[in-house]
Amino acid sequence: MRLSQLLFSQGFGTRRECEGLALSGEVRIAGRVVDDPDEEVDEQGLSFQVGRTTWPYREKALIILNKPAGYECSLKPKAWPGVQSLLPPPLRRRGLQPVGRLDQDTTGLLLMTDDGQLLHKLTSPKHKVPKVYDATTKHPFSVADCEKLLKGVVLDDDPAPVFADAAELLDEQHLRLTLIQGKYHQVKRMIAACSNRCEALNRISFGPWTLPEDLPQGAWVWADPH
Ligand code: URA
Repeated sequence: MRLSQLLFSQGFGTRRECEGLALSGEVRIAGRVVDDPDEEVDEQGLSFQVGRTTWPYREKALIILNKPAGYECSLKPKAWPGVQSLLPPPLRRRGLQPVGRLDQDTTGLLLMTDDGQLLHKLTSPKHKVPKVYDATTKHPFSVADCEKLLKGVVLDDDPAPVFADAAELLDEQHLRLTLIQGKYHQVKRMIAACSNRCEALNRISFGPWTLPEDLPQGAWVWADPH
C-alpha cells in the first residue's frame, strides 16, 4: 500500500493532508524517515511512528476504553461530553463507535470499533455475549438477594423476568454480576428490584475482553480481535 494511502486508512486526515504528513518527514518506519508519499509499504504487522507516537496498522480498529463517569456513549451527546472526545484524532476520524452503551455515571470497560460487522455481532442478543459488572450498593446486599437475581426479577417495562447469569457477593455492599441481556439501566433496576440502590457501577469485562487493571480511567488500549 502507498504510504499516503496507509496514513489515510488509519485516520491521519484527508488524502491531501496525508500526502503532506508524509512529505513533512514526520513518519518513520523501523526508525527510518519515509517521506515519499508514494513509497510502497507492507502494511501487514506494520508499526509506524508519526512524530513521537507509535501506531500499529489495523485494518479495523478495536480498542478498550476505561470509561470515566461524566461521559455519554451516545453518538450525539447532549448533556455530557461524548466518549469519542477521549480518543486521539486518528481514532476519532475513523469514526469508532461504542459497542453497546454504558450510562453516563457508569465506569469501566467500553469496547469501541469501526468494524460494523463486529459491532453488530457483539451487540446482537442472538450472540449472548456475557458482561461482568462490579456494583456498589447503598445498603447491605445479601446472599438471598443474589439468589433472587439469579432466579429472575421483573422490571417495570416488561412482564418477562430478567436474570443474572452469575451473582457473587464480594463484601456487604459490593457484588459482581454477569449479565447476558442488555436492557436499559439493567443492573441498576435489578438492584432496585431488591429494594436497594446502585451507588456505583464499573464494567470489568465484555465477552472475552477484560479491563486491564493498570489502565487509568480515560485511557485506552488496542484490543485483540478474538
Ligand atoms: N446496567 C446499568 O444499569 N447501567 C449501565 O451502564 C450498564 C448496565
